[in-house]
Parts: sequence; C-alpha cells; structure tokens
Amino acid sequence: MISESPKPSGSARLINLPVISDPRGDLTFVEGSNHVPFDVARVYYLYNVPVDADRGGHAHRVLQQVVFALSGSFRLKVDDGFEKTDYWLRNPRQGVLIDRLIWREMDSFSQGAVCMVLASNRYDEGDYIRDYGAFQKAVGAKL
Ligand code: TYD
Repeated sequence: MISESPKPSGSARLINLPVISDPRGDLTFVEGSNHVPFDVARVYYLYNVPVDADRGGHAHRVLQQVVFALSGSFRLKVDDGFEKTDYWLRNPRQGVLIDRLIWREMDSFSQGAVCMVLASNRYDEGDYIRDYGAFQKAVGAKL
C-alpha cells in the first residue's frame, strides 16, 4: 500500500501494475508503453541503503521514471516547484511515475529495502538538475 499526503503532485502519480497470484506466490510484470507511459531504456536499483541515507536530491530535464519498492519500504518526496507530496512506497506492484522537471528525494529506507527504477532514457548526467535554485528557475516557481 502507498499512502500519500496531502495531494498528488501535478506531475507525479501512482501506477498500479498487474498481479497474477496463485498458491505459489505473486507475479507482477511491466510492459513499456503499456503499463508505464514510455519505452523502458534503463532499469536501476538501490539496495544496501543505510536506513539514515538520503538519496535523490535532483530533477531531470527530459527523463521520466517510475519508482517501486520491490522489497521493504521508503519515502519518496516529489516537488513540482509549487506543491510537495510524500509517497510511502511498500507495495511492489504500486509505483510512482515521476515526470520531467520534478524534484525528488528519498529517505526513511527500511532495513533491506530495494528500490527499482524504470527510466525512459539511458544515463545522461547532462539531463540532471542538481541545484534546487536552478530547478525552481526551470519550472518558473517563485523564488
Ligand atoms: P544519482 O542519480 O545521483 O543517485 P540517487 O538519485 O539515487 O541518489 O546517481 C548516483 C551516482 O551513480 C552518480 O554518480 C551517477 C551514477 N549513475 C550511473 O552511472 N548510472 C545510472 O543509471 C544512475 C541512476 C546513476
């Protein structure tokens, strides 16, 4: 289950993936441009994350991503420059779609948490905005 508060950000939303359940367990799958709104060009995952670690702290100019907690839980904070929303991810079949120009931070990782991210493009450091002031300028937010 994912709880969110207070209101979903304009450009981040929940994605619910299919699940096939039988007595042998649960199976979930993702198809690019079907269950997520882009062709998946890259998959990466975070693991062995210390419980007090802060990850993220950037936005992307073009990249779209969907973030899942495959195991354990963590908090994903998204910010479109006007509105901030917290998602508590803990269900491997529910992800958060993060559109372009959304500032994101992740913290409160549980012991053994695994965060999987599906991305619309290959890694490109030039696509990152790592300075919050530059992000605010990019989205036209009031400084
Ligand atoms: P970063 O995206 O800043 O991590 P996070 O947002 O999870 O805190 O990436 C951390 C480092 O890893 C940075 O040096 C870039 C590198 N990296 C790659 O080389 N390829 C990738 O696909 C990703 C996501 C990161």
